[in-house]
Amino acid sequence: MAEPEFAIKVTGLTKTFGDFTAVDGIDIAVPRGQIFGFLGPNGSGKTTTIRMLTGTLRPQGGQAEVLGTDVVHHADQVQQRIGYMSQKFALFEDMTVDENLRFYAGIYQVPAEEFAQRREYVLRMADLVGREDELTRNLSVGWRQRLALGAATIHEPELLFLDEPTSGVDPVARRQFWDLLYELAGRGVTLFVTTHYMDEAAHCNQLAFIYRGRIIAEGSPSQLRHSQLDQRIFDIAVTDADAALDQLSGTSGIDDAYLSGASLHVVTPREESLTADDLRRRLIAAGFAAPTVREVDPTIEDVFVNLVTRHR
Ligand SMILES: Nc1ncnc2c1ncn2[C@@H]1O[C@H](COP(=O)(O)OP(=O)(O)OP(=O)(O)O)[C@@H](O)[C@H]1O
Ligand SMILES: [Mg+2]
Repeated sequence: MAEPEFAIKVTGLTKTFGDFTAVDGIDIAVPRGQIFGFLGPNGSGKTTTIRMLTGTLRPQGGQAEVLGTDVVHHADQVQQRIGYMSQKFALFEDMTVDENLRFYAGIYQVPAEEFAQRREYVLRMADLVGREDELTRNLSVGWRQRLALGAATIHEPELLFLDEPTSGVDPVARRQFWDLLYELAGRGVTLFVTTHYMDEAAHCNQLAFIYRGRIIAEGSPSQLRHSQLDQRIFDIAVTDADAALDQLSGTSGIDDAYLSGASLHVVTPREESLTADDLRRRLIAAGFAAPTVREVDPTIEDVFVNLVTRHR
């Protein structure tokens, strides 16, 4: 049988809880071998979607093919071929590194004769060689997430779901974690990742934004960044960015303003004649010393903030 082109193909997928619709008729297509980023604010339906795609939650409507198999009706045929690093629960804190790996190898039915070799591979990948007997709760968050990744891949899945895998992880450890994800992708594993970190979104091949259960934008990071051509973004570096935000928010010619890292981002309509100089003068008139204002290309974060503001 020919391998299906898509690792995930979803149409009209819907999940309701009582009269609340958590996932509202979404379509998703993820080609094999890609890193697919699934972004959305808290409560927008990301985890609910993953649970349907891993066969742990039954949708009310729509189709979901995972690795060429209908996961709604044949979850058991899919589950041995996928890995799932869940948002809330990925490891037993009171078990050792080694015990967690053994536990997951059991769940995923790794044959006994393959386990030693898989265990060694995972320990090396996660840089945990020599720490096999440490209690998981004593590992720092970054190491714990690497162990969780190892546990979710102990059976060499073709497709891996990662639900906010780097939440609470420091920037250096996040980078190391992403190196591991690239390594997996390089070996042909398809990755479906949710994250709130916009720098991570930029590392994905494809992105979809979900908001209130609906997909409101999708495309590659660069397609998304350049689809906002009806607006301009100004980056403002100023000593008191918070106060500058209050000063400029809601004033004429400004669609939106928000903090972005250490600076302030101001969004204006493209046809608006406001210039960087105008914004600088406004701030100086309000008593801000030496603000630096420059027009910038939108970042993924700008696109995300704009989309959510527009749909609210
Ligand atoms: N079992 C459930 N019963 C009732 N409502 C639920 C249930 N599971 C999720 N929901 C609701 O569905 C919505 C979507 O939840 P979900 O966990 O999918 O969001 P999320 O995008 O993963 O959010 P976060 O970024 O906070 O993890 C939320 O409003 C949540 O309260
Ligand atoms: Mg979630």
